[in-house]
Amino acid sequence: MLTLVPEAVEEYAARHTSPLDPLLEELIATTQRRMGHSAVMLSGQIEGTLLQLLVASLRARRVLEIGTFTGFSALVMAAALPDDGRLITCDVDPTATAIARDFFARSPHGRKIELRLGPALETLKSLTGPFDFVFIDADKPNNAAYFDWALQLSRPGSIIVVDNVVRGGDVIDADGDSPTVQGVRRFLERLAAEPRVSATAIQTVGSKGYDGFAIALVTSPS
Ligand code: DHB
Ligand code: MG
Repeated sequence: MLTLVPEAVEEYAARHTSPLDPLLEELIATTQRRMGHSAVMLSGQIEGTLLQLLVASLRARRVLEIGTFTGFSALVMAAALPDDGRLITCDVDPTATAIARDFFARSPHGRKIELRLGPALETLKSLTGPFDFVFIDADKPNNAAYFDWALQLSRPGSIIVVDNVVRGGDVIDADGDSPTVQGVRRFLERLAAEPRVSATAIQTVGSKGYDGFAIALVTSPS
């Protein structure tokens, strides 16, 4: 697996990133204890803080998240919402989202969050936009479809962030043809050709699960 950022450099960057709320530190520890290796799917302090400051700088009031996992990114984004802000997050995994529910209940920001358990493509059909900010971090084979929905549910000025655009380098490996890698590639091709956004793909491939992400600013209406 490709690593672009040495572990010591990543730790250095983390030490110079705003500290996490203690409840979020506890959520990371609980996820590592209860979810085993899947804990690498957590957004983590560096990417989580970026999500939080994007939500804050947009003065977002409505956030959509596709892929809750154990609720770290939802809570970190909800903290940047005003009291009457709302974050809808969806996931199919009852085990991971049970942890999310526990931590939402313990956080002062949890009441801004609505968790929808079920296939995201079903949940998305029931939503009304626009959302100011969308974070896509779910099953990668559906990334292009989720991105289409995100555009549909956005407005000019909304930001869409899509996690995991590198897959440890597999995106450029001719043998890397798993449904996940194919899904990431299909999404990136879609993103690069999409005239309604201005977007960039960032490679943060480190040792702690960081796997790059794309940021798209919606520039024209859908
Ligand atoms: C995987 C998924 C993620 O969303 C992530 O951030 C890291 C890894 C995975 O499925 O391996
Ligand atoms: Mg991810």
